[in-house]
Amino acid sequence: MAYLCQGCGYFTPNWLGRCPQCGEWNTLVEVPKEKAKKVTRSSSFLATSSPISLEAMQKNQFFRGKRLSTGLREVDRVLGGGVVEGSLILLSGDPGIGKSTLLLKIAEGIAAQNQRVLYTSSEESLAQLSLRVERLKIQKSPHFFLFSADCFDDLVEQLFTLKPQVVVVDSIQNLGKRESECLPGSVGMLRELSAAFLEMAKKENVAFFLVGHVTKEGFVAGPKTLEHFVDVVLYLEGDPQRPLRMIRGMKNRFGSTQEVGILEMQEEGLVEILDPSQYFAGDHDTSAVGTARTVVAEGKRIMMIEVQSLVSSSSFDFPRRVSLGMDLNRLHLLLAVLEQTTRLRFVRHDVYVSIGGGVRVTETALDLAVCMSVLSSRLNQSVNRKTVYLGEISLNGAIRPVSLLEQRVQEALRMGAKRLVLSARNQDHSAKYPGIEWLQYHHLQETLKREGFFSSSPPLG
Ligand SMILES: Nc1ncnc2c1ncn2[C@@H]1O[C@H](COP(=O)(O)OP(=O)(O)O)[C@@H](O)[C@H]1O
Ligand SMILES: [Mg+2]
Repeated sequence: MAYLCQGCGYFTPNWLGRCPQCGEWNTLVEVPKEKAKKVTRSSSFLATSSPISLEAMQKNQFFRGKRLSTGLREVDRVLGGGVVEGSLILLSGDPGIGKSTLLLKIAEGIAAQNQRVLYTSSEESLAQLSLRVERLKIQKSPHFFLFSADCFDDLVEQLFTLKPQVVVVDSIQNLGKRESECLPGSVGMLRELSAAFLEMAKKENVAFFLVGHVTKEGFVAGPKTLEHFVDVVLYLEGDPQRPLRMIRGMKNRFGSTQEVGILEMQEEGLVEILDPSQYFAGDHDTSAVGTARTVVAEGKRIMMIEVQSLVSSSSFDFPRRVSLGMDLNRLHLLLAVLEQTTRLRFVRHDVYVSIGGGVRVTETALDLAVCMSVLSSRLNQSVNRKTVYLGEISLNGAIRPVSLLEQRVQEALRMGAKRLVLSARNQDHSAKYPGIEWLQYHHLQETLKREGFFSSSPPLG
């Protein structure tokens, strides 16, 4: 007997409490010894006949890796410009978030370009799939094939007869293999399958989309196993109660992982949001009290968002702090800085902060906008809706500069902003953008004064 780590696939002849490779506790399970040997590769499928010079490669059409569009620009962007032939793409996300829906749309998009797609479900029957196809109003293309199988060998048979360009496997955890002792979904099975898919992808030049479920801990089951094997790892995330979905690249051998795709779940499936700023901060008839705008860069995606706050007197011993779409610790920190800067107290107030549209922002450039929005609600004093606030706030209240300034300014202008408040340490581009009032400050205190909060008698210590 040998012991296999379910987290990373590490093998050891002795049981250990903690895996020396991934450092996880209690992940080693007993498996037959032969399993340990199966890891070795039967044949080398990547080796071509002989090494090739770059010049020769340049001339040979074969080496120009082709990219296929998925038909969804938001997904193409995250993939780095489309699906690379013969690549393995892992799509993961919480159950019910829309992985199957997204992949049916992608398959439709690929079939629309007269490329053969095989959509294999190991979870749903053909009848269930056809119901889904009807509901999502998928185009009835002769190049789009549906298949229901929970055995890898059946799938391979179809691959050789159909010869598709793209294959969707939904999901890899539910797939088994004949003549294998491993159970579907076990780490052993995932290792076998991912090796088999990798071989198929590279040999037959077929691109695979593999759906991988996320475990309770938030990892793709057998995380390291799958992630090492595939070329691209995509993650579909969002609040199940809300329609917004974001697709992020966690790993990409053919593009940047800085890209974010933004989609919305509608009755007919996932629809792209091509203008996120309009979606998140478009002109709605909301009161300007408690809302402040900023332009964030999620990865390389520049978008205008609206920070909304509600500060109300608390009836709890411990006042509530709730943040939706931003880090709660960050909110605590900003409240402390605000208390220190303004001498206003928040101990008797509940503070709720939400980012409009349900987007999740990981950037600190929205700090200044959060401060403005919270203070606006606390003092019941409105914030100019044509102003964009950019800046990270440090613990002493200083405003730190933001990156990608010019892109942010351009986006702010596009969305009709008239004023820009930012760190004095950011470069001054005001001459270049005459259409926008350019205000640079060193400190939060200075900003609040100039922005008309505490104009008459500043309660500043
Ligand atoms: N028959 C249906 N009618 C209406 N909505 C549906 C139907 N089937 C699925 N959905 C919606 O689509 C969402 C995404 O489902 P699905 O693509 O199956 O997620 P996943 O594959 O990630 O588990 C579900 O949460 C549900 O809201
Ligand atoms: Mg599904």
